[in-house]
Amino acid sequence: MSQIEAKPVFQPNKEFSKTARIKNMCEYKALQDAATEDYEGFWGGYAKEKLDWIEPFTNTLDESNFPFVKWFGGGKLNVSAQCIDRHLEFRKNKAAIIFEGDRGDKQVITYLDLYYKVNKFANLLKEDFGVKKGDRVVIYMPMIPEAAYAMLACARIGAIHSIVFGGFSSEALKDRIEDAEAKVVITADGAYRKDKPYMLKPVVDAAIDANSPVKKVLVIERNNEDVTWVAGRDYSYNELIKSKSGKCEPEVMDAEDPLFLLYTSGSTGKPKGVQHNSAGYILWAQMTMEWVFDVKENDTYWCTADVGWITGHTYIVYGPLAMGATTVMFEGVITHPDAGRPWKMVEEHKINQFYTAPTAIRVLHKMGEHEPLKYDLSSLKVLGTVGEPIDPPAWKWYYEAIGGSKCAIVDTYWQTETGGHIVSPIPGATPIKPACATFPLPGIMAEILDENGEKSPVGEKGLMCVTRPWPSMIRGVWGDEKRFVKSYFGDVKKDGKPVYFTGDGAVYDADGYITITGRTDDVINVSGHRMGTAEVEAAIKKHPNVAEVAVVGKPHEIKGEGIFAYVVLKSDSGVADEVEEVKAINKVIQKEIGNIALCDDMVFTSGLPKTRSGKIMRRILRSIAKGEEITQDISTLEDPSIVEKIVNMLRK
Ligand code: PRX
Repeated sequence: MSQIEAKPVFQPNKEFSKTARIKNMCEYKALQDAATEDYEGFWGGYAKEKLDWIEPFTNTLDESNFPFVKWFGGGKLNVSAQCIDRHLEFRKNKAAIIFEGDRGDKQVITYLDLYYKVNKFANLLKEDFGVKKGDRVVIYMPMIPEAAYAMLACARIGAIHSIVFGGFSSEALKDRIEDAEAKVVITADGAYRKDKPYMLKPVVDAAIDANSPVKKVLVIERNNEDVTWVAGRDYSYNELIKSKSGKCEPEVMDAEDPLFLLYTSGSTGKPKGVQHNSAGYILWAQMTMEWVFDVKENDTYWCTADVGWITGHTYIVYGPLAMGATTVMFEGVITHPDAGRPWKMVEEHKINQFYTAPTAIRVLHKMGEHEPLKYDLSSLKVLGTVGEPIDPPAWKWYYEAIGGSKCAIVDTYWQTETGGHIVSPIPGATPIKPACATFPLPGIMAEILDENGEKSPVGEKGLMCVTRPWPSMIRGVWGDEKRFVKSYFGDVKKDGKPVYFTGDGAVYDADGYITITGRTDDVINVSGHRMGTAEVEAAIKKHPNVAEVAVVGKPHEIKGEGIFAYVVLKSDSGVADEVEEVKAINKVIQKEIGNIALCDDMVFTSGLPKTRSGKIMRRILRSIAKGEEITQDISTLEDPSIVEKIVNMLRK
């Protein structure tokens, strides 16, 4: 048995626990037991209590066609009504969204404002663009409130939105538009970053050619700069919205009607369109907001993610609004104008829950260790992290300097596919350990299993799985049923039955705490963003001088993991200047994917370590990138000498 380091334990803040929704581990265990004893009763009870049904559901869970499961069969509802309409009776003047722009410009959007904005937007999509239930709408937007209106307007009329992160290139946008067969793109002319305007619309223009399924583009004029308008295709939101009615009846949706697609990287092939459906997703988004952040009626909650990622979907828009909370939306860069920006915002908005990624914490720590001292952070109650393992020094700084050693840190473990948190501390109940996701949330049958489907022994790395379908589980990979089954339900079986495998490794400690150890597949986690090695390699191969390439992850001080590329150039490429060649290849990556996939390291080698059947031995390349001793058996390689050549080259 391998030994794992014992971590210190921090008890929940007693004052906080007194009024928390889940107050102690006994209550937590009682909920877990209730779910174990009567799984359907547990979920059915919450679905009745938490959601407003237009028609009640009659069948809580149908697993007969597993893994194509159905939750809350027969039930009808509308997700935008869950997020807006039902709050109008008691919260119409409460702030739903507080927006802070890059340049400090502010907007407060009440639930009543949100109602009108979304209804008008929905009418615009229906009347002017002919968008109907089931149509796909791509949203390529900066972090402005209109992004949330667009999502909720789609939900209102039953259209399926697919947000593409604003940092993706036109090629990446084009691929996603085509895969989803979207007929409409909603974008903005541009936005602001570090006080400077930047443009988005030209990226959209480059992504749509004559064969594109997109027939109409809606442009939100944020910057009011000159952009190219294609007659008959491009329309100004600011103009069209003026004449729209503020009332649009929400479409009656089946519990299992799709709500959105979100493309994410896998270990092979092109990005997958992860599909989430209506009722199960919104139920868990709301429940995890309540349990994990424990947001109270007068609290102000801020998640720094971008709506282009799942965290932005579930924990900026859907979760907070479903529970009637006040959610802060931020356009800017958190280190601008200095690394005190988020703490200044915490003081000014009296933020109670703050949720960010370990990369951000590391940057803020490095750039402004003492910045928190300048601000009053006493409003904070819960701090969250997401997206990647957090290292103990960053955790310590977050806990002490930001949380004043009184706030729980919820290290939330989840994925695009899980819709919401699956393993996380509960702030009023769980004694926390640094950099540890702790325990499965009530109702989530998450377990670390070995390859035979047995529970992993303490201290031994195993596979992070969920053994029963839960309401916000991925419902499909858009247009590819086989890939859905193979990607998630192919590798691990428990008692002979396939279970959901996350792709992550994890380990139990002696107290049963779960620590996530990272991906077990060829996915790199760069600043909390998933990057498939296959995608980066496919981009690099588009450079005409490249014969072969292998990409691996390498630990990075700030980003968690960086991208390390081993490139074999064509023998006739005649490259004289390697520095220029690196730049040229990075340009291709920028064009094909975007800046987020730029390589941190790139080396040119004469070959790659491959087995005789031609499989690249990435494990060896990972060890070389980390500067580790090569302990793997290399005798089975087609050309074992290549390993030494690469190692020697890097030593130079
Ligand atoms: O490897 C895990 C890591 O992020 C992956 C999911 O990425 P994505 O779908 O882009 O969603 C990110 C936001 C949920 C996971 O497979 N990950 C996520 N949260 C944690 C984490 N790794 C360690 N600790 C976490 N708390």
